[in-house]
Amino acid sequence: MHSAIVAPKGIWWKPAGRQEKLWVTIAFIWCMILFAMMPFWHLRGGQNASGIRSRVDPAAYVARVERFTQEYKVGEENGIPVVAPPPGSEVYLLGRMWSWSPILKLKQGASYTLHLSSADVNHGFHLFPVNVNFQVVPGYDYGLRITPNTAGEFRIICNEFCGIGHHLMTGKVTVE
Ligand code: CUA
Repeated sequence: MHSAIVAPKGIWWKPAGRQEKLWVTIAFIWCMILFAMMPFWHLRGGQNASGIRSRVDPAAYVARVERFTQEYKVGEENGIPVVAPPPGSEVYLLGRMWSWSPILKLKQGASYTLHLSSADVNHGFHLFPVNVNFQVVPGYDYGLRITPNTAGEFRIICNEFCGIGHHLMTGKVTVE
């Protein structure tokens, strides 16, 4: 019968043998390599978002999005305004429980600064089917420098759980 209070048979209490020391050393070196990869990848991995970041009052951001929407509005879809900003402009997108506004119409090959922020809680900006992920945090304005290189229709999906309507929180970007 196996029991926790009966010492197991074997020689486990003897000092580590050569093989064990070797494997512990290999594992330790590997840990150090992975540890060093973190700062290396941060600096050289090319995975950090390009752009600017600043603090913003959520109410001021909502007002900014509304001004932007009125300025470049070209239509409406299911009650959500469709906006076509000129190439090179500052583009504003608002995440709030539980929608993305406005719907953006962008030009292929043109550059924009896409501002993301939230009016209430944390949301997640996932552009489908492109592998773009970004946290959308109230109080912070993230300005991403983007140049759409593919025409088509893209879905914005919220990938940060934000309440009862989280699964309904989708938006749209079209590139023509
Ligand atoms: Cu917004 Cu989940």
